[in-house]
Amino acid sequence: IPVQPFDLVVFGATGDLARRKLLPGLYHRLQAGQMPEDARIFGAARSELDDEGYRAMAREALESFVTKDDRTPELVETFLNMLHYVAVDASSDEGWSTLAERLGPADDGRVRAFYLSVAPRFFGAIADRLAGSGVITPDSRIVVEKPLGRDQESAHALNERLSTHFTEAQIYRIDHYLGKETVQNLMAIRFANALFEPLWNARHIDHVQITVAESIGVEGRGSYYDQSGAMRDMVQNHMMQLLCLTAMEPPAHFDPDAVRDEKLKVIRALSPMSPTDVARKTVRGQYRAGTGGASYLEDAEDADSATESYVALRAEIANWRWSGTPFYLRTGKRLRTRMSEIAVFFKDPPHSIFTDQVSSLHGNALIIRLQPDEGITLRMTIKDPGPGGMRLTEVPLDMTFADAMGAKNGTKVRMPDAYERLIMDVIRGNQTLFMRGDEVEAAWAWTDPIIAAWGASGEKPQPYDSGSSGPEDALMLLHRDGRRWREIAS
Ligand code: BG6
Repeated sequence: IPVQPFDLVVFGATGDLARRKLLPGLYHRLQAGQMPEDARIFGAARSELDDEGYRAMAREALESFVTKDDRTPELVETFLNMLHYVAVDASSDEGWSTLAERLGPADDGRVRAFYLSVAPRFFGAIADRLAGSGVITPDSRIVVEKPLGRDQESAHALNERLSTHFTEAQIYRIDHYLGKETVQNLMAIRFANALFEPLWNARHIDHVQITVAESIGVEGRGSYYDQSGAMRDMVQNHMMQLLCLTAMEPPAHFDPDAVRDEKLKVIRALSPMSPTDVARKTVRGQYRAGTGGASYLEDAEDADSATESYVALRAEIANWRWSGTPFYLRTGKRLRTRMSEIAVFFKDPPHSIFTDQVSSLHGNALIIRLQPDEGITLRMTIKDPGPGGMRLTEVPLDMTFADAMGAKNGTKVRMPDAYERLIMDVIRGNQTLFMRGDEVEAAWAWTDPIIAAWGASGEKPQPYDSGSSGPEDALMLLHRDGRRWREIAS
């Protein structure tokens, strides 16, 4: 079903995100029949382009980022005809009245979405100029993406600045991890099945491991990344969201504020870390040259950088459900392979009737794979077949979502990209998968003292080989607790 008629203005329209994700994502939504025929997409950027010039750029983007099978000439033409371009400059008056004219009357009943795919330092100026040119209607939305501040104070200032022109219900803060199919599936698995929820607590769950491992390095984003590091780039946002969805109480309804209230409660229940905790429960790493590529220092072009490209930590949630169950988080660049998952380890059975088999009795584990190969695996213990007596063995009960859905529907299922879902949610006005301002600030409130303690210690991150599974100390972090990380493997 098509969404309601809309005008989407993409600032930073000639940039990487627009070319790689937004335009291809919108094209796929047209293909799926979700775009109304009269939808208009305005590219806005500083380059002096006209509609035709922008369409030519968009055509190339589709050729690069949409598979050939999905590109039919008529559909590509229909899509390109939805595109328009206005040259605007966030730091001058130029172009803003043209944008207002081209958008047309403010009371046309169409949804307006302003997507700020630009560096955060322009967020405030663009919001001011949108207000100044009179294009913000009651049905308008503004979309921003991380970094949303670099600490609690700056995140608060940004929230204040945006709220001078937009209400909270109009502000869509993207964390693209929330748009990933499996991340949403986490809610379905937990709250649409009666099987797991009764066991989903410290009585039955020994610990949880959340891993976002990347094989890429900083890939030309050295100047941004070196100011951020893995904590600000991944933990404060993506990892925190995964932790929240895993740990939150069941919301009473599947509506935006019910879900976001529960996530916020998890963040606020995280035990704050003192400098001593930081020394014991966190590990920072930085990759050096190895089989996976050059060293971080070369990639970041700063031979002295103390920025971490890897973080592992033990988080504790001080509430009734989770007290005593640690959540171990780790994320890093230039690791052995790209692998993201949430692994929930259940406690061992309380008593074994297979007395000579004690050593092979382990608890069950539920592995929720985010990427690649989205799906779930349940680790089970079964009898090793054969006449040799009651020998036990562990096997995976495995499901890949695409295969399971493909088998059900009899067709190959395409997993939509996170941005496709999120852009359409903006138009629909559904904020469930977007972060609320207080969530973002609370997440910083937890990570700020950790970052400060690292700074105060004066210690450099521990080196790890590019292409390895991370620094030694990260292994120790679990080893000390009598546990082991799952392997980083494809
Ligand atoms: C981004 C980070 O938010 O997420 C990048 O800034 C990281 O550093 C990326 O590479 C990972 O996203 P994905 O979807 O590839 O897992």
